[in-house]
Amino acid sequence: MTDPLMNLYNRAPIAVERGEGVWLIDTGGRRYLDCVAGIATDALGHGHPALVAALTEQAGKLWHVSNIFRIPGQEALAQRLVDASFADCVFFANTGTEAVECAIKTARRYHHVNGQPERIDIVGFAGSFHGRTYAAINASGNAGYMEGCGPRLPGFVQLSIDDAAAIEDAIARPTTAAVIVEPVQGEGGARALTGEWLLRLRELTREHGVLLIHDEVQSGMGRTGKLFAHQWFDGAEPDIMALAKALGSGFPVGACLATTEAAMGMTPGVHGTTFGGNPLAMAVGIAAFDTIARPETLAHARAASADFFERLEALRSRFPDVIADVRGKGLLIGLKMIQNNRDFMGIARDYGILVAGGGENCVRLLPSLLITAEEIAEAVTRLEAACTAARGAMVQAA
Ligand SMILES: Cc1ncc(COP(=O)(O)O)c(C=O)c1O
Repeated sequence: MTDPLMNLYNRAPIAVERGEGVWLIDTGGRRYLDCVAGIATDALGHGHPALVAALTEQAGKLWHVSNIFRIPGQEALAQRLVDASFADCVFFANTGTEAVECAIKTARRYHHVNGQPERIDIVGFAGSFHGRTYAAINASGNAGYMEGCGPRLPGFVQLSIDDAAAIEDAIARPTTAAVIVEPVQGEGGARALTGEWLLRLRELTREHGVLLIHDEVQSGMGRTGKLFAHQWFDGAEPDIMALAKALGSGFPVGACLATTEAAMGMTPGVHGTTFGGNPLAMAVGIAAFDTIARPETLAHARAASADFFERLEALRSRFPDVIADVRGKGLLIGLKMIQNNRDFMGIARDYGILVAGGGENCVRLLPSLLITAEEIAEAVTRLEAACTAARGAMVQAA
């Protein structure tokens, strides 16, 4: 029998049937502690009552209507996002990569309407991930995602985060439109950029009239313990920001936020979407926002992060031959592994804990922001069992 699905994912051998908070239950009834959470998407866990109520209530009223009409839910969620951020306006999309696409168009259009159409270059960084559209794969510049997909698009520049001179040089060029950066690189392996680095980038871009785009698709909406990751650093706010993942906490929705100034080229007809911002997505997005943006939720996420990091550091010190480093920010946590990270993900699964992969041989822990102290302790107990098994496997292989 041939597989009716396109062969695009290395899928783990479990068929997931339902979820309850931080737990996922497979079709055989086995329970897994879910530290993947849809890759930082199910920020409020599975089956959160406020989200279920919002979705089911909206489902009985109206599912879809074209963006040629006013959609009150969009206005309400946009207002919340604007009130909570540097931004003045919002475009709703369906996914992270679409939010990034809009961010890039917004930046280029800004220069176009400002009489500098030659400013098209988007500067991105090694180790970044911005999604899978053509613009997004070119912005992150990861050869693995571009190979065989035709020529590289013009107007994209890749630099190393550590190359300060090249960054200064690129930003000063008269063809540069914008810089795009994840304040915490997610897929790249939970690499948190420092405040000093982010503030310097802000200073340079401002000095040269270059727009700053933050891709907070993964790091935004409470994941780092602040509503947006850049809010850890006063003055680091961008001109444009892409969001998705936790914005709908499991319901597909993305957003591109911008200042009025940065969005000046985004006029009727320049951009649009059929599904983006539909009433179902907005109903869930509002419920998710109202729960995540509460000071108690963010404080809980910060406390959970401190607890998790402490326990993981202790685990690393017991297993220095298995875990090389514990890194990341908030509940976007990376364990840099000594042996192959993919092998460890399989071992962890055998011990009933689900973890995601990441760059630089990391596994990522991206649990619900509502994870309790007991659940964190249970997660570390399971990881400890996995580390013991991984150590045993290494001894056997030697
Ligand atoms: C930082 C970042 N940007 C963009 C994307 C793309 O989002 P999506 O898969 O919803 O298109 C991702 C997805 O992992 C991401 O982590």
